[in-house]
Amino acid sequence: MQIANTLDVLRTGVDKLRSGGDTVALVPTMGALHEGHLTLVRRAREVCDHVAASIFVNPTQFGPNEDLDAYPRQMEEDAAMLAREGCALLWAPDVQVMYPDGFATSISVAGVSKGLCGASRPGHFDGVATVVCKLFNQVRPTHAFFGEKDYQQLAVIRTMARDLDLSFPHVHSIIGVPTVREEDGLAMSSRNRYLSAEHRNAAATLPREMQEAIARIEDGQDVTPTLGALEDALLGAGFSSVDYASLVDAASLAPLSALEQRPARLLVAARIGTTRLIDNMAVEAASQATCMLTRRP
Ligand code: PAF
Repeated sequence: MQIANTLDVLRTGVDKLRSGGDTVALVPTMGALHEGHLTLVRRAREVCDHVAASIFVNPTQFGPNEDLDAYPRQMEEDAAMLAREGCALLWAPDVQVMYPDGFATSISVAGVSKGLCGASRPGHFDGVATVVCKLFNQVRPTHAFFGEKDYQQLAVIRTMARDLDLSFPHVHSIIGVPTVREEDGLAMSSRNRYLSAEHRNAAATLPREMQEAIARIEDGQDVTPTLGALEDALLGAGFSSVDYASLVDAASLAPLSALEQRPARLLVAARIGTTRLIDNMAVEAASQATCMLTRRP
């Protein structure tokens, strides 16, 4: 696997991969890799001729009181994992390469980036959209792979790619990969390593209670009290606060107060100890749920 730290080396490496019209996947990451990231690389290898990954802990997507300095960094270990998975190229710029002196541009995606995590982390998605647009322009992949765990992030990136007419990758080649979970259901995240043993145990309440709430909503119970009960259950299990627990339209992320006949998603962000966890799950549209009920013996 080639490791590029400068744009010149990256461009030569990418030119080689793309020669002969080969497809190149990009798997953007901030490092501290886990099975979730490796699943993205494996999926990318199934779809494309070559896979490039990037590791860059992007300062512009962290708020002033967030964990930028504490964010785990383990470049050698990560590079070895990517090489083992068959990555052809690792793009690992430093902050000066990504944001040279005088850097003055920011991309802000209206609508889809404003509620949910956008409300509790102001500026976060501007940082994500800007760095991902730069990564696309730098690596010029034909496809890009992102985890569905960051569901809102995926929606922001797709909107940015569509609105800016990015041809590499264009919106249809931005591929979302289902969340990879620990045995007890907790969504894998680089931030899970911040959890104490006690908080790690309690953290599994999040996916469990989300499934419980989804079952109730699909069963026809009212959305608002069900989400209230979900929040109470999380607080009762040791979470210190719930930033949001929202039922949204799966495409527009507009809040829903009742299940409608189109795909919906339950999105939650909650804090436990010093760690903020996010998760999301599909909620079956009303018509699908009814259909299943009528099919049951
Ligand atoms: O999901 C992440 O790891 C980051 O937000 C991303 C997409 C690599 C941008 O920094």
